[in-house]
Amino acid sequence: MSAIVIKTAEQIEGIRKSAKLAAETLKYLEQFVVPGMKTIDIDKKCEEFVRDNGAVPATKGYRGFKHSCCISPNEVICHGVPNQTVLVHGDIVNIDVTTILGGYYGDTCKMYYVGEPSEYAKRLVETTRECLQIGMDQCFPDNRLNNIGYNIAKHAQKNGYSVVYEFCGHGVGLKFHEAPDVAHIADANTGPILKPGMIFTIEPMINAGKARAKVDRKDGWTARTIDAKLSAQFEHTILITETGYEALTDVYHEF
Ligand code: MF3
Ligand code: CO
Ligand code: CO
Repeated sequence: MSAIVIKTAEQIEGIRKSAKLAAETLKYLEQFVVPGMKTIDIDKKCEEFVRDNGAVPATKGYRGFKHSCCISPNEVICHGVPNQTVLVHGDIVNIDVTTILGGYYGDTCKMYYVGEPSEYAKRLVETTRECLQIGMDQCFPDNRLNNIGYNIAKHAQKNGYSVVYEFCGHGVGLKFHEAPDVAHIADANTGPILKPGMIFTIEPMINAGKARAKVDRKDGWTARTIDAKLSAQFEHTILITETGYEALTDVYHEF
């Protein structure tokens, strides 16, 4: 695997702007995540907003993916292809947006509630939100990368959930997917040493049932839980700083 790039001040400034726009896109889309909406129509709103702000959706044309975001309801773990699926009251749904602004990439996703989901569904979502924060708490210079995944998995499993291991976080900024892979379940005190100027995503996918994913054979992308139980995910683009971290996509401080 290639080396982890330490970003320059100029690159960090560019990535910060792109990350902010990705976060603003998720905020803008809130109004459309309501009962009766088709996921394909949310995708159109996403593309409009990203382009109106001078950016390009990174997923469009990426390895054959045709849409401007991933929309993953309920038992979909990630990479949900926007389609004719209609959102209904009680759904939980993830939207994942990656922007390219001035050549720089920002990547973020979050969960939305469609109406009022069950307590069972909300507990999964809130635990997954905590998992991302617990991962970010491990982001400081000279810590080992895999302490992120070690602590995420500990928290998820303590709550009776499983951690998806077939998809990872990733270095990001100059390209969509850079080194390193960021595992969300890992051994403590292993992996690369974190240094200021590294930028990568943390994006835990946490399942109510079994950890395994299976990809839809028809669209080649949509990854679902094998037992059809719920899955949730949150993602931030993280900069390692001299003293800790900055979540470049956390412009609304939802934690
Ligand atoms: N944004 C996703 C991530 O967090 C990647 C989506 S790739 C796609 O890494 F092709 F499925 F859109
Ligand atoms: Co990502
Ligand atoms: Co993403």
